[in-house]
Amino acid sequence: MSTTAFDNPFSRLPDGQTRLLGVIGHPVTHSLSPAIHNPALAWLGLNMRYLAFPVHPEHLHSAVRGFVAMGMLGFNATVPHKEALLPLMDWLDPLAQRIGAVNTVLIDPQGQLRGYNTDAPGFVDALQESHPVLLAQTPVIVLGAGGAARGVVAGLLEAGCQQITVANRTPERAAQLIADLAPHYRTAHLQSAPLQENLLPLETCHLLVNTTLLGLHGDPSLPLSPQRLPKQALVCDIVYAPPETPLLQAARQQGLATLNGLGMLLHQASRAFTLWTGQNMPVAAVRERLLGLL
Ligand code: ATR
Repeated sequence: MSTTAFDNPFSRLPDGQTRLLGVIGHPVTHSLSPAIHNPALAWLGLNMRYLAFPVHPEHLHSAVRGFVAMGMLGFNATVPHKEALLPLMDWLDPLAQRIGAVNTVLIDPQGQLRGYNTDAPGFVDALQESHPVLLAQTPVIVLGAGGAARGVVAGLLEAGCQQITVANRTPERAAQLIADLAPHYRTAHLQSAPLQENLLPLETCHLLVNTTLLGLHGDPSLPLSPQRLPKQALVCDIVYAPPETPLLQAARQQGLATLNGLGMLLHQASRAFTLWTGQNMPVAAVRERLLGLL
């Protein structure tokens, strides 16, 4: 490992054997993924580069064919491509299929596209790293029923969680999420609810996860207070900027444990990194560098 390379990811210039990785999104300029992957690649001395590609939805198919034609090793996808990538894959990981979203693609040596979802296990990795809990005995409330919620709920179910309430402004969407996932996790008890504080089982909830983007800079905060949660509850937000959303601030002030979305961001990246390189990302060092940048 080379500290110099880590400090300066471009200390070794690309050459004829450099493999290319990247992230596609629209927009994508805000993505932190290049700042996560390039230092990690340099740290491990891997001759690879990770770039951000702004891909308009109507160019998704041609962009992906181009990546295959150019011999790229793989790529991540962010909004709005995660669902649209599904039918373009030659092989789908069963979890990605269940969630209905692909965030990591591996292009194998035959040019076949293999689609994965690392958001789901990435969330659980981040949770277990910061606050190890026995998920089988943890009643959970997930706020939101969009793409991010699908990843979080599926990750929790895969990790053995048995009791999840999905609360959403549009309850039909929460019911659909449950209808899609429940058949694969028959022992789990899943229920949907409207996003209304007085209708949620907060007193018995040990893990509350906000997957809506309410609380992002400039956005209104959630219409929900953590006051009725028990004192052993952990409150998570998938948002990492600001590092403490109004929900996390209220929970902390109440003496509850909190976790923002940075760990999930790092761990979904770490899982993708391993799929592409076969190596472990130096997560602690990458986190330290990222915190400096943020
Ligand atoms: P993502 O992929 O980030 O989850 P999404 O699929 O657009 O994005 O989902 C956004 C989530 O935030 C949804 O659960 C959405 O609720 P609806 O399904 O009712 O739209 C939720 N959300 C967005 N704005 C909201 C608001 N002002 N109040 C409550 N929930 C909101």
